[in-house]
Amino acid sequence: MANQNFDVVIIGSGAAGLTAALNLAPSLKVAVLAKGALNEGSTAWAQGGIAAVLEPGDTFESHIEDTMVAGAGLNNRATVEFVVGNAPAAIDRLADLGVPFNVADDNNGWHLTREGGHSHRRIVHVDDATGWAVQEALERAARAYPNITLVPDMVAIDLVTSRHGERYSGDGHVWGVYALNRKRGKVETFLGRATILATGGAGRVYLFSTAPRGATGDGIAMAWRAGCRVSNMEFMQFHPTCLYNLEVKNFLITEAVRGEGGHLLIPETGHRFMPDFDERAELAPRDVVARAIDHEIKRLGLDFVHLDISHRPPEFVKEHFPNIHAKLLGLGIDITKDPIPVVPAQHYTCGGVVIDLDGRTDLPGLYAAGEVSQSGLHGANRLASNSLLECFVFGEAAANHILENWDDLPPPPPIRPWDESRVADSDEEVVIKQNWTEIRRFMWNYVGIVRTTKRLERAAHRIKMLTDEVEDYYGHFRVTPDLVELRNLLQTASLIVRSALHRKESRGLHYTTDYPKTLPKAVDTVLAP
Ligand code: FAD
Ligand code: SIN
Repeated sequence: MANQNFDVVIIGSGAAGLTAALNLAPSLKVAVLAKGALNEGSTAWAQGGIAAVLEPGDTFESHIEDTMVAGAGLNNRATVEFVVGNAPAAIDRLADLGVPFNVADDNNGWHLTREGGHSHRRIVHVDDATGWAVQEALERAARAYPNITLVPDMVAIDLVTSRHGERYSGDGHVWGVYALNRKRGKVETFLGRATILATGGAGRVYLFSTAPRGATGDGIAMAWRAGCRVSNMEFMQFHPTCLYNLEVKNFLITEAVRGEGGHLLIPETGHRFMPDFDERAELAPRDVVARAIDHEIKRLGLDFVHLDISHRPPEFVKEHFPNIHAKLLGLGIDITKDPIPVVPAQHYTCGGVVIDLDGRTDLPGLYAAGEVSQSGLHGANRLASNSLLECFVFGEAAANHILENWDDLPPPPPIRPWDESRVADSDEEVVIKQNWTEIRRFMWNYVGIVRTTKRLERAAHRIKMLTDEVEDYYGHFRVTPDLVELRNLLQTASLIVRSALHRKESRGLHYTTDYPKTLPKAVDTVLAP
């Protein structure tokens, strides 16, 4: 198929990708690729909401301070100020797009909920299913623009760089992406003067994760292979309260349940254990709560702990958490009366592709926004409900930079098509399934909430063996969506383990019993290809 030419190619149709597209579309032709349906990213799954300073008496300084405390001082203060300062305007724009945020008589009309690590009520939300409403509104707005071409079922494989030009150039410029059309089984080439990575996180590198199936670190791996620096990958966030259920494996119980008074209890005794660990109790930052639960589960040999909000009036619980109430009722748990069995699970990728305040990566023509990136906002641990916010602010920042510098962005040179002449159809799909499961299992067991150097080295050893096998397989067989994801999952696992081994301290989400102390100076882990 002939190359498809656009002004800008965006890979990812979640909050970051669609925000960028909506800001570019008034003047530029944009393609937005998604590897499955448009709403299959994490955005549609977000529950709690979006953080912004909207409560009378709250201040930007306080939101900045809370973000830096949660991030264990590793945050870039300039980024935190940029995002926090732009938050109220981002919320206004979403409301203008029709996101039906919950309203109240106070707080200038917003109903604000509370989450761990926030010293004020700060979270705007749509019941307990904020992400679904946001995704719907963004998609609706994008469909209305003739300049936006939405391309579902298109699996990005690798960035098109100057190496792929008909005439070789080593300047590292990115011109778009090679992507596998799932329906046709063919690789297509999408070209543009600028490319934005908005591919989300890498949660599925772990056996248990709240993230959707497609969170396989594709953008991080593609950027790394193309030559971008990747930073702070050791900081994988574990959400303290994922439902423990043998059939429903990854259903999140929003932090807002704790924000509205939910207690964490030991099942047999009913002991409320969080005050034993931290004076902020259930509202301590996520890393603290997840580690405390992990500690109690291991110490007492439990399968789960209880999260209980049944002491609040039933009407209050149903009104605030209608979706969780209905979902759990279907599983035989009435949260107005019963405690909820919960365990920690991987939830968010704090590290990623290094970007500046304009969303620019190291490579000319390549931008990144949202969970795929490391902007300096989250530091060593993301504060609750700061991540959708990051998508809106950086999706817009990247678009603005492209618009302001359009005349300086050269058009793509002639690009070679994808070469399949030396590969065959796979005859051993079992290799993919086996390796996929193996990675997720050893990452969970060896690179989890509490780490040791020995376990990290074991993981590194396995990654080395699997890398040879997967690269050999990739070199010989025609690409499939599963193979693309497996290769990226392994690449991301390798970046996480290398970063974790590099950090000789415990900070935020990275806790190792070999280096339990936090060093006086906070320094990013930056890996260069
Ligand atoms: P995503 O929304 O994940 O979108 C990624 C996009 O990239 C998708 O369209 C996907 O198809 C596409 N893509 C990926 N790889 C490829 C490829 N190879 N080719 C083509 N396309 C590709 N944050 C908050 O701030 N508040 C919350 O309340 C909240 N709740 C959450 C609840 C859950 C259960 C989860 C999992 C996360 C939650 N988060 C929350 C985090 C937040 O939802 C995510 O960080 C955010 O939505 C990420 O948005 P994104 O645009 O970066 O990526
Ligand atoms: C939640 O609702 O607990 C998730 C919020 C977040 O990840 O920021």
